[in-house]
Amino acid sequence: MLSLNIQENIDLRHFNTFGIHAKARFFITVRSLEELRILLQEPQWQALPRFILGGGSNILFTRDYEGLVIKNEIMGITRFHEDDNYVCLKVGAGENWHEFVLYCVAQGYGGIENLSLIPGTVGAAPIQNIGAYGAEIKDVFQELEAVGIADGVIQQFDNQKCEFGYRNSIFKSSHKNQFIIGNVTLRLSKNPIFNTSYGAIQTVLQDMKIKELTLKSVSDAVMHIRRSKLPDPKMIGNAGSFFKNPIILENQFIELQKKYPHIPHFSEGSPDLIKVPAGWLIEQCGWKGKRLGEVGVYDKQALVIVNYGSGTGADIQELARQIQASVFERFAVRLIPEVVMV
Ligand code: EPU
Repeated sequence: MLSLNIQENIDLRHFNTFGIHAKARFFITVRSLEELRILLQEPQWQALPRFILGGGSNILFTRDYEGLVIKNEIMGITRFHEDDNYVCLKVGAGENWHEFVLYCVAQGYGGIENLSLIPGTVGAAPIQNIGAYGAEIKDVFQELEAVGIADGVIQQFDNQKCEFGYRNSIFKSSHKNQFIIGNVTLRLSKNPIFNTSYGAIQTVLQDMKIKELTLKSVSDAVMHIRRSKLPDPKMIGNAGSFFKNPIILENQFIELQKKYPHIPHFSEGSPDLIKVPAGWLIEQCGWKGKRLGEVGVYDKQALVIVNYGSGTGADIQELARQIQASVFERFAVRLIPEVVMV
C-alpha cells in the first residue's frame, strides 16, 4: 500500500521560475500514475482545490495557495514501436523538457531540436502546445495519458483530441484544470528534415561556421539564440514570454501598417488573420528595459517580464496591467497573458 507524504505550509519560491514567494497549504510530490490515482480518490483531499505543478516555468503565483499543490515527478523514457524511419517514445510527465530534447538529439531522433532550452517539464509541454523557431510539439505528438482530477480515472488523448492551437490545447480551454498528465508519447524521426527557415537559425549557423546540418548543430543554434535573447531563470526570475503574440484581423492590421509601415507580422493560417509580435508592440510603447521597483521588462526581449529578486506576484501583475493599458491605448490591441496566474 502506498502511503502519501503530504507536507504543510511549503514555500513555493523554488518551484516557480519567477522566484516568487507564495505558500502552499498542502504539498505532495507524486512519482507514478498509481500514486496519483490513490491521491485523487482519497476523500480527504477531494474537497480541496488542487494545483498541478510541473517545472513552474509558466506560472505566476499571485497569492498563497489554500489547497493542495501536486508536484508531478513521474519519470522515465520508454522506447516502443520502432522502424527504420520512426521511433515512438513514451515519456514521464515529470521529465525535464530540455534534458529530454538533448537525449533525443544524442540518440539521433529528430523533430524537437528546434524546441531546445524551453524550460519546464514534458507533461506541461502539450498543455500550451509549446513552440519555438518554426516548430511545435503538436507536429510530433502522438498521444498522452492523463488522470481525471475529479474521479482518478486514466484516459488517453490522441493528437486530434488535444485540440492543439497556438499556445493552446483542450487542457487550457474546455478541460482546464480537469486532468493531470502522466506521460506523453512522441513520434520522432530517424531521418529528420531540418527546419531552419526561421530567420535567425540560418544566420547563427553561418556565424558558428557550421556547414553540415545535424540535429546537434540545429539544437546548438537554437540554444545560442535563446541564450542571447532570454534570461536564464537561475540568474534572473522570469517565465519566458509573458504575453501571447496577438492575432488580429487583416483590416485592423492594414490600418496599423499605414501608421507604422515597419510593423513586423506573420500570417496565421487563415488569410484574414495576422499575428503581430507582442514584443514589438511593447517595445514601441517604451517598456523595453524599464523597471518598476523589483520587477521590470527584460532589456533584450520586451515580451519577457523579470523579477530582480524580491518582486511579488502582485508587482508583476501590476506591471503587466500597465503594459496592457499602454499597448491598448496606442495600438487598440489587447495583450493576453501566456503565463498562467494562480
Ligand atoms: N521584437 C521587437 N522587440 C522585442 C522583441 C521582439 O521588436 O523586444 C520583434 C522583432 O521584430 C522580432 C519579432 O518581434 O523579429 C519576433 O521576436 P522573437 O523572434 O524574439 O519571437 P517572439 O515572437 O517574441 C515567440 C515565442 C517564444 C519563442 C520565439 C522564437 C510567443 C508568445 N513567444 O516569441 O516563446 O521562443 O517566438 O520562436 O509565441 C515562450 O513561449 O516563453 C517563448 C519564449
